[in-house]
Amino acid sequence: MDQAARDRLDASARKILEDNDRGGYTVPTSGLYPFQWNWDSCLVALGWAAFDEARAWQEIETLLSAQWDDGMVPHIVFRRPDPGYFPGPEVWRTGRTPATSGITQPPVAASCVRRILERARDRTCAEAAARRLFPKLLAFQRWFHRVRDPGRLGLVATLHPWETGMDNSPAWDEALGRIEVAPDLEPYTRRDTQHVAAAERPTSAEYDRYMTLVELYRAHDYGPGIVREAPFRVADVATNCILLRADRDLLWLANRLGPTDAPRDEIAGWISRAEASFARFRNPATGLWRSYDLRADAPVPTATHAGFLAFWAGVGDDALAESLDKWLAGTRYGLASVRADDPRFERQRYWRGPIWAITNFLIGEGLAESGFERLAARLRDDTAALIAAHGFFEYFDAVDGRGCGGDRFSWTAAMWLAWARQAT
Ligand code: DGY
Repeated sequence: MDQAARDRLDASARKILEDNDRGGYTVPTSGLYPFQWNWDSCLVALGWAAFDEARAWQEIETLLSAQWDDGMVPHIVFRRPDPGYFPGPEVWRTGRTPATSGITQPPVAASCVRRILERARDRTCAEAAARRLFPKLLAFQRWFHRVRDPGRLGLVATLHPWETGMDNSPAWDEALGRIEVAPDLEPYTRRDTQHVAAAERPTSAEYDRYMTLVELYRAHDYGPGIVREAPFRVADVATNCILLRADRDLLWLANRLGPTDAPRDEIAGWISRAEASFARFRNPATGLWRSYDLRADAPVPTATHAGFLAFWAGVGDDALAESLDKWLAGTRYGLASVRADDPRFERQRYWRGPIWAITNFLIGEGLAESGFERLAARLRDDTAALIAAHGFFEYFDAVDGRGCGGDRFSWTAAMWLAWARQAT
């Protein structure tokens, strides 16, 4: 890519973050997602850090200021009303200020904090911010291990497809399909399909089940008891890999920042328990990794690109890299979220095929750290090519790369600034 093109894309990416800034937090995109989302904000902070470090720290601080007393960091923080989104605060009714949803999202925060700190130009400001954030990151990850892994399996449970961030992944088809839609489900109107073509979004059958779960958890006041009650209870390979990486990064932060009372042994215990349990994700027959359905006590039948997050967690191996090579051979650009020859592949439908800049980043950085340089460069260069050709979309058609979902999307802009712009 020539320098002029890179400069142009840099300027557009910054402008997207600035336009999506609502004063201390960044909406993923205007219209479709008008609030603060958990893992979006953390990844978006990496983009801010490329040109405004103070603003990057503020992004994570505002998110964590909505942390619940028990340590949970909600997946959405509703800072101001917006009728253009469903389900809003009047549906979640969590009784929190600021209003929030009652479920969480993949805990990428500690890893983003470490990354921004390691690259910081203003080290004093960075260390002070990371020190302020450390107890909140610790509380969040402790909450995951304590509340979402009550049996100390070394695998944390996810109770809603929205918690995985990969809402309509085919990995959830069976677990979601078993849920009976509540006969007295409150009538609702979807708003997402007023912003984006319905063919690029989850189906109504999925939404009915998403809402059935929300109403059930709301009836239990989103308390720890919902882990036992949850009709949807999976060990999501993505969330678990992201948490393992976050635990390693939290330990790194404890050592680097040196709070004398940091519970290093406790964190090290989480890491070794996860490492000992991750064999459950591996499919020895295919070399692929897939999620585990804790209710059915069986692996989910469909492996998606989420399994490659094992590289982000530092536990990817040669067999997984070989599988990735084959997966990449199926489409012109990497990395399709579902294999192109899978019967459930849909090239434009959200997490059932499209390519996502953020998963390319997480997997790509993990690959680079594990010495799989060629594959890492492929994911980075493909991400840059997609953005250069089609714009900063939420995701990209897995066959021709056309932009899908929301446009002028914050985390795609952030992934450009933090990573893809280094493409050759
Ligand atoms: C949505 O509304 O599509 C989100 O993914 C839920 O967090």
